[in-house]
Amino acid sequence: MKTALVTGASRGIGRAIAATLAQHNYLVFAVAKNSLGALQSLQKESGCIPILTDICDPNQVESLFSNICSQTHHLDVLINNAGIAYHGLLQDMSVAQWDAVLNTNLRGAFLCAKGALSSMIRQHSGVIINISSMWGQRGASCEVAYSASKGGLDAFTKALAQEVAPSGIRVNAIACGAIDTEMNGFLTPKEKTDLEASIGLGRFGTPQEVADLALFLCSESSSYLTGQIITLDGAFI
Ligand SMILES: NC(=O)c1ccc[n+]([C@@H]2O[C@H](COP(=O)([O-])OP(=O)(O)OC[C@H]3O[C@@H](n4cnc5c(N)ncnc54)[C@H](OP(=O)(O)O)[C@@H]3O)[C@@H](O)[C@H]2O)c1
Repeated sequence: MKTALVTGASRGIGRAIAATLAQHNYLVFAVAKNSLGALQSLQKESGCIPILTDICDPNQVESLFSNICSQTHHLDVLINNAGIAYHGLLQDMSVAQWDAVLNTNLRGAFLCAKGALSSMIRQHSGVIINISSMWGQRGASCEVAYSASKGGLDAFTKALAQEVAPSGIRVNAIACGAIDTEMNGFLTPKEKTDLEASIGLGRFGTPQEVADLALFLCSESSSYLTGQIITLDGAFI
């Protein structure tokens, strides 16, 4: 049985990816920071193993990988999905808020990749998928820190793919457009309609549509695909 670790699996995109991999016979370790109840309901529905971990904390990430190692001796897939957003002008942002965004979206991916690579390099195989954003390439007003974190994650993806390709490990990113999750819950109905008008397909994407692409990137059908930032934005204008 293949094994996968999905961060940010309590809701939204991470939950859809965890459930989809479980449906396709992966043993899935599902991580969130606080939402144990949501992880336990995912466990009931799809058999994923819940683990609470703050991915920004090196000690907690070390315990996470020791825990996984004690249950299985290999890890096939890491989905770096956990992320947070911040909306507001840059000059109103505190250093603590900046650090929270960069630590979750970029340092967390580094810590989890480092943990996963020790197994993957030993196995000489593995897949890492980073869930990025179209703002990492375009930049968004009032989301400077978030855009910087995702732009960094894109560069991290390309550089790491080069570094670990000789070890048989593939690394890609999915740069999502607007996806219908709680992260966008702050939008008023009018703001949501205005945003939809900028999307060629005229609607937000669903978490399941991201999960379907992630499943393809995990599979042997994408065996020659690495170092890519794949935009999934419904033709955002
Ligand atoms: N939704 C979009 O439109 C969109 C667009 C582009 C990119 N993305 C990216 O897609 C990913 C998922 O987004 P989403 O919309 O599904 O987000 P979401 O609904 O807000 O869920 C975020 C998840 O991340 C977890 N998390 C946050 N901080 C964490 C930490 N320090 N340690 C461990 N887990 C942590 C949360 O766990 P708790 O429940 O415990 O807090 C939750 O499971 C993010 O990286 C986001 O930037 C989303």
